[in-house]
Amino acid sequence: MISQEKIVEIRNRASIVEVVSDYVTLKKAGRNYMGLCPFHAEKTPSFTVSEDKGIYHCFGCQTGGSVFHFLMQYDQLTFPEAVERVAKRYGIIVERSDRHLNSDGSEREVLYRINERAAANYQKLLFRYPDGEKALEYLNSRGVDEATARKFMLGYAPQGGSGMINLLRQEKIPLQDAVRLGLIGQRGPQEFYEKFFARVIFPIVSPAGKIVGFGGRVLDQRLPKYLNSSETPLFHKGATLYGLYQAKDGIRKSDRVVLVEGYLDVIALSQHDISYAVATLGTALTVDHARVLSRYTKNIIALFDGDDAGQKAAARSFEVFVEAGLLGRAAFLPKGDDPDTFVRRHGKAGIETVLDGAVPLADYFFSWLEGRFGKSLEGKSQIAGEVAKNRCAGLSRWRVRLVATLAALWRQWRRTGIVTTSRSGRWWA
Ligand code: UTP
Ligand code: MN
Repeated sequence: MISQEKIVEIRNRASIVEVVSDYVTLKKAGRNYMGLCPFHAEKTPSFTVSEDKGIYHCFGCQTGGSVFHFLMQYDQLTFPEAVERVAKRYGIIVERSDRHLNSDGSEREVLYRINERAAANYQKLLFRYPDGEKALEYLNSRGVDEATARKFMLGYAPQGGSGMINLLRQEKIPLQDAVRLGLIGQRGPQEFYEKFFARVIFPIVSPAGKIVGFGGRVLDQRLPKYLNSSETPLFHKGATLYGLYQAKDGIRKSDRVVLVEGYLDVIALSQHDISYAVATLGTALTVDHARVLSRYTKNIIALFDGDDAGQKAAARSFEVFVEAGLLGRAAFLPKGDDPDTFVRRHGKAGIETVLDGAVPLADYFFSWLEGRFGKSLEGKSQIAGEVAKNRCAGLSRWRVRLVATLAALWRQWRRTGIVTTSRSGRWWA
């Protein structure tokens, strides 16, 4: 149970227009906002949201209610889940009086709970003067506004830490659990320290909305630029995509996903209304990544920088897509740009033009090879036939052969050392 006062506090703090706008495009109409109802099919808007009254109502299908009801209806949440979702977005900490931290189900739930507490606390500090001022200024300098920062639940760990250790002690949460999550480290029997400090915090959220880990970026030139949670029972970099939780509706609606490299690339794209971008977490793309994405759409566009590294990255991702049975596409930015810098200068339309020019990775790979090594593909068609039987279902016949031939060739090159993989998972030719 969440106390009644808490529910009222959360409802008052939340902007229903802001929350609904995560899902529905709203336009101001007099005192209210209007948009196309997400709960029934319609061509003219009959869905209204009133900020003053804190409610939504659809004249078409007669649904309506508070911000909590909206989330219950839209995401099939229970009431307490909806309350917690809104609370999380606004950095409000919710205690549930009916459950003790350890008696409620699995160990994983305890770990999730710690991540949630940590994220809410980081978020609170970002928006609390004066702690978060520098970090807000930094985000601002990178073109990230408050609504976007809230959408991604961004936070701040100040130089002196976020007070997490005391917070956990007060709530009688075993610090060892936070150590396992990589949030704190231990120096001595009773001596703990926070892993993240003086960094903007990027919570990493599972598609189901659970916080699985964190990334943190310095506000200046210090190194390492980013720090990420280590692998934990909740967090596996090789199968996790940053921003997927925030992007999943956008991906379904536009039936495409754009895959980028950085936290701030995803955020900048979202800031410019590209709501279908996700990023790997500083590791190479894996087959698991590709499979996760394919649950939402088969139309996957990997967006690469235009430099040599980007071209190599595109070539190497080709095999991953083949392995996942997917026909990925690649789009390239001009040299010197990443998605963040590009979208800030050229806007949504600029990015869309680049994405519209995406080429199938198989085609790209082929010309990349031709450009590099010439056309000696003889003798590989037998292996190609074998591979083609097992993979690439759903692709056209000629493409299967092309893909399989190239994949076999690629693997042979790796065996013979013409191309090698470095320990960090990067390809070198
Ligand atoms: P980049 O170094 O390419 O930088 O990292 P970026 O995304 O353009 O960063 P900004 O714009 O300066 O903030 C790309 C991704 O690689 C991972 C992070 O996930 C980052 O988003 N990375 C990078 C690390 O994990 N550690 C690092 O030290 C650097
Ligand atoms: Mn960047």
